Amino acid sequence: MRISPELLNLVPYKPGKPISETQREYGLTQIIKLASNENPLGPSPLAQKAISLALASQHLYPDPTHFKMIETVSEKWKVRKQNLGFGNGSDELIDLLCRIYCEPGQAVLTIHHAFAAYEISAAANRAKVIKANPEDLIETYQKNKAQVRLIFVPNPNNPTGSYINKTQVQQLIESVKGEEVLVIFDEAYNEFARAHDYVSAQNFFDPQGQVVILRTFSKAYGLAGLRVGAMIAPDSTVDIFNRIRKPFNVNDLAQVALVAALQDESFMKKTQEITWKGLDYFYIQFEKLKLPYFKSQGNFVLFDTRRDAKLVFEGLLKKGVILRPVANYGFPKHLRISVGLESENQMALEALEKVLHEVPEDV
Ligand SMILES: Cc1ncc(COP(=O)(O)O)c(C=O)c1O
Repeated sequence: MRISPELLNLVPYKPGKPISETQREYGLTQIIKLASNENPLGPSPLAQKAISLALASQHLYPDPTHFKMIETVSEKWKVRKQNLGFGNGSDELIDLLCRIYCEPGQAVLTIHHAFAAYEISAAANRAKVIKANPEDLIETYQKNKAQVRLIFVPNPNNPTGSYINKTQVQQLIESVKGEEVLVIFDEAYNEFARAHDYVSAQNFFDPQGQVVILRTFSKAYGLAGLRVGAMIAPDSTVDIFNRIRKPFNVNDLAQVALVAALQDESFMKKTQEITWKGLDYFYIQFEKLKLPYFKSQGNFVLFDTRRDAKLVFEGLLKKGVILRPVANYGFPKHLRISVGLESENQMALEALEKVLHEVPEDV
């Protein structure tokens, strides 16, 4: 049977290597996984308590209206209820936005080295992908506006940790006003951004406008396993979204955990503190090791191993440390390391130093 070329050419998303798989393959018991930008503190204690209390009612379907999540997020984030949508991770939101807005042959515009899900979801929905440098996004849109329906801007981006600043966000939004296009700011790492000129695009949100903001509960909120993401979107987008999403797309444990996690401000503060301390520690270590790195607004750092990163990755696995290879993002010599607990960060860097001696540097 004929399969469309967009699907045949699709390169599957490569998630971080699971701990259990690494244990099996390398016969190790102790593993440090700093590969998926997860929260090393675990889920917030308030979320864990809410999950335990909800276990006894898991024979029931979850609330398809997302009532409590909408109420809590609306109040916390100061957003009108009709501008909120929830998905099975922000991954699902990315996919459904492509499904809603892209017809076959139309295109999604994003930046080079952007988070891979945009490309996969665009292809899965038979749309093309156009990439530009962040500073050329507006110009590239103007050139391709007959085709481009969605502009995905990961801010901050994964895996680079880079961001676009307040002026760039404003300029981009201004430049598309009145056009047949939505600008989707994916702010999965919003809570970690420290740059003084970083702003959430929520500041420029208009219920009748063309801006969508994606947020996730997988990173700073520590709920990656439960799968829940949110979007702040124009009235018309949320209306269509609620018609096409599966009624039970967000499971009950995820719903109760999100509501509880949003109340846990001390957990968020602790998460930010250990993340920023961990990033600063990594920067110092990479400087000592003379490895170039990208300053990050996320909870991870992309660094140049100055070697074939695959060999460094494998050397680290043998020592029980899982980092993230990023050759699929066009970085064959780089690895990405997520911030872990202080002890994990130290052990990972000690292992890295040893592996760097084992794998010769490229000349
Ligand atoms: C930039 C970005 N957006 C979205 C996601 C997806 O997050 P989730 O589907 O867990 O909400 C990730 C996950 O790594 C990410 O890095």
